[in-house]
Amino acid sequence: MENFVYYNPTQLIFGRGQLAQLEEKAKQLGNTVLLVYGGGSIKRSGLYDKVTALLQAAGCRVLELPGVEPNPRLSTVKKGIDLCRTEGVDWILAVGGGSVIDAAKAVAVGVPYEGDVWDFYSRKAVAEKALPLGTVLTLAATGSEMNRGSVVTNWETKEKHGAGTTFPTFSILDPENTFSVPRDQTIYGISDILSHVFEQYFTHTTEIPLQTRFAESIMKTVIENAERVLENPHDYDARANILYCGTMALNGTLPVGVTTDWATHSIEHAVSAVYDIPHGGGLAIIFPKWMRYVYRENVARFVRFAVEVWNVDPAGKTDEEVALEGIAATEAFFARIGAPTRLADYEITDEHLELMAEKATPFGPIGQFKTLTKEDVREILRMAL
Ligand code: NZQ
Ligand code: ZN
Repeated sequence: MENFVYYNPTQLIFGRGQLAQLEEKAKQLGNTVLLVYGGGSIKRSGLYDKVTALLQAAGCRVLELPGVEPNPRLSTVKKGIDLCRTEGVDWILAVGGGSVIDAAKAVAVGVPYEGDVWDFYSRKAVAEKALPLGTVLTLAATGSEMNRGSVVTNWETKEKHGAGTTFPTFSILDPENTFSVPRDQTIYGISDILSHVFEQYFTHTTEIPLQTRFAESIMKTVIENAERVLENPHDYDARANILYCGTMALNGTLPVGVTTDWATHSIEHAVSAVYDIPHGGGLAIIFPKWMRYVYRENVARFVRFAVEVWNVDPAGKTDEEVALEGIAATEAFFARIGAPTRLADYEITDEHLELMAEKATPFGPIGQFKTLTKEDVREILRMAL
């Protein structure tokens, strides 16, 4: 195990009816709030009315940044920053999925920063100050509700990058607020959660039994609940378990003391930057191809994955056979839940392979499990066509 510092200040407020706590939280955070949300799902579900009523009960003046896009855009973030500056906003409330939360984080760190907020995403600057941020999560996927990551797309330059920004002060997670998530977004969320675990599970770091078992328990819980939630989107317990897995997969619990990978996320972000596809859809396509490309770097880890997560029986098989069965089981799972399996599912051809490979490696080679050059990325993308 490697040395680590573990820090996570986000208060997680989880469960049925927990939205009621928003009023008290709002009173603590200040008078003027910027309410950030997406393309209208919270209006259709009635959550918008509940949230604004609670903010008004707390005596808040509410300004709004609606219309945050899936794969949130820098131009929208800048609109939010301008609004906060001219109106003297005290704190921000994001109500929605990862895109809404990520955009809100970008606004939160952009307001006190004198330069261009894109500096944080292009690695020219590190965010040090932020407006306080609360979130009401409506979609299980990114873990943004309890981490300091934010992913923003600069549509003009076709770049999509993540940055360390700010932790939410609090996040309210009521599984009932995820009942209305459509089938495809539910599938993308499941794929994203599993992918976050994969990024941190496939490592060369040894003697990490607790981190390894944490990761395996999240993967198994997601797999057990995935079909349940797809069969019955109103299954409270299945939604709750997936939601909690989403948070735990990317709130800093898994990577402590471990060298993690993250190459596949860089590759997917490059694909989304060029084609604007859903993040979880891209990951379901690319991750199994990455696995096939890299498993020989540490076959034992893939054997463990096959046996512990997918219950592959190793008797009478070589390690390589077991490892490959685990990868095949991963592919079969994604296919079974209806996730996309090839880039062609999004009508992506080999036309921009070179461009995507370049965009996935803007700061040099990526990944730790196997360091991938631009040429490696191009090969993985080719396997995914
Ligand atoms: O925009 P609205 O109308 O709200 O609709 C959204 C959107 O169309 C809809 N939706 C969300 N909650 C709903 C709902 N529809 C009905 N009922 C609900 N309860 O779902 C669609 C997708 O939402 P989005 O927020 O884009 O999805 P997700 O949470 O998967 O976020 C994806 C973004 O997060 C980034 C991704 O790259 C992508 O840009 N990521 C952020 C990370 C982080 N901050 O730590 C890590 C991740 O790896 C990821 O890269
Ligand atoms: Zn992700």
